[in-house]
Amino acid sequence: MKLLLLCLGLTLFCTHGEGSAVVRSNFDLEKISGKWYSVLLASDKKEKIEEDGSMRVFVEFIYALKNSSIFFKFHIHVNGECTELPLVADKKGDGVYAVDYDGHNKFHIVETDYDNYIIFHLKNVNSGETFQLLELYGRKPDVGPELKEKFREFSQENGVVPENILDLTSVDRCLQARDEK
Ligand SMILES: *[C@@H]1O[C@H](CO)[C@@H](O)[C@H](O)[C@H]1NC(C)=O
Repeated sequence: MKLLLLCLGLTLFCTHGEGSAVVRSNFDLEKISGKWYSVLLASDKKEKIEEDGSMRVFVEFIYALKNSSIFFKFHIHVNGECTELPLVADKKGDGVYAVDYDGHNKFHIVETDYDNYIIFHLKNVNSGETFQLLELYGRKPDVGPELKEKFREFSQENGVVPENILDLTSVDRCLQARDEK
């Protein structure tokens, strides 16, 4: 009996250790560091994420800095060329960050499992006007349909219409410009 319980306990422990639990608070920024790919992008101001939009950015990696700010390396199309866009966002709270870029941006990590995906929700304020941006990043260039559906639902709950949710896997995400040989 004791042996049976021990085995059961070990099984539970092991499967728990393997699965990637979804985290929605108390984020460990070290675990967010590393390579990412922009997969879905949504906004209630569509021109911001269309070609030549300031928020049509493609992430290459995130790096947690020692001073609790986070560094993002993005690429953006400038006159059709992939151009590096480095940004540093300063911590304002648990998973909450601010960065100036096309106005003031405040964003938070909605959820992540560290190993597969992360979702961000950003609010931009620029001369009295505001818009929202929602982003789904994957550790691989694409994520499964369940995650995409979850993101679409989340975007719609935040008032973003379905035609304003872009799947970036079929566009030039500057993958060739990534610094990883
Ligand atoms: C943290 O360090 C980075 C890089 O040196 C810097 O850009 C950023 O402003 C710093 N953050 C704070 C809150 O001082």
